[in-house]
Amino acid sequence: MKISIGSDHAGLPLKQQIINHLKDKSHEINDFGTYTGESCDYPDYALKVAEDIKNGNSDLGILVCGTGIGISIAANKVPGIRAALCSDTFSAHACREHNNANILALGQRVVGEGAALDIVDTFLKSKFQGGRHEKRLDKVAKIEAKYSK
Ligand code: RB5
Repeated sequence: MKISIGSDHAGLPLKQQIINHLKDKSHEINDFGTYTGESCDYPDYALKVAEDIKNGNSDLGILVCGTGIGISIAANKVPGIRAALCSDTFSAHACREHNNANILALGQRVVGEGAALDIVDTFLKSKFQGGRHEKRLDKVAKIEAKYSK
């Protein structure tokens, strides 16, 4: 699978752990930074990953900041992006199965490495179930369209 990933400085160590983990599993990784521990702004990395997903360059995205909150809020401003902040594996599969989430957001200061890697694996292997969930996502898209003028 082709995966885009990005973080701010607060998410950098976990981003690197996720990259190592996914490379070991032979996934193709597009790393949009940040690459150093210097303080930076999470919307810049949310935008890079969200646009890469929107343009169809990758299958799914992963974003990390201190809490996962700011970076998921920013990514969700890009039309067509459904970024889900997860701290547990139930949410990680439900957000794919029910919400067709195309980006997973994680908080480096919230989840430890072991839990985070389980969440990543669960997110990547889960599939959208369609059916009744499709209709609900159509309604979400209509809200987005209403305010995208
Ligand atoms: C950076 O200190 C921190 O505010 C950021 O990583 C994130 O947690 C914001 O939501």
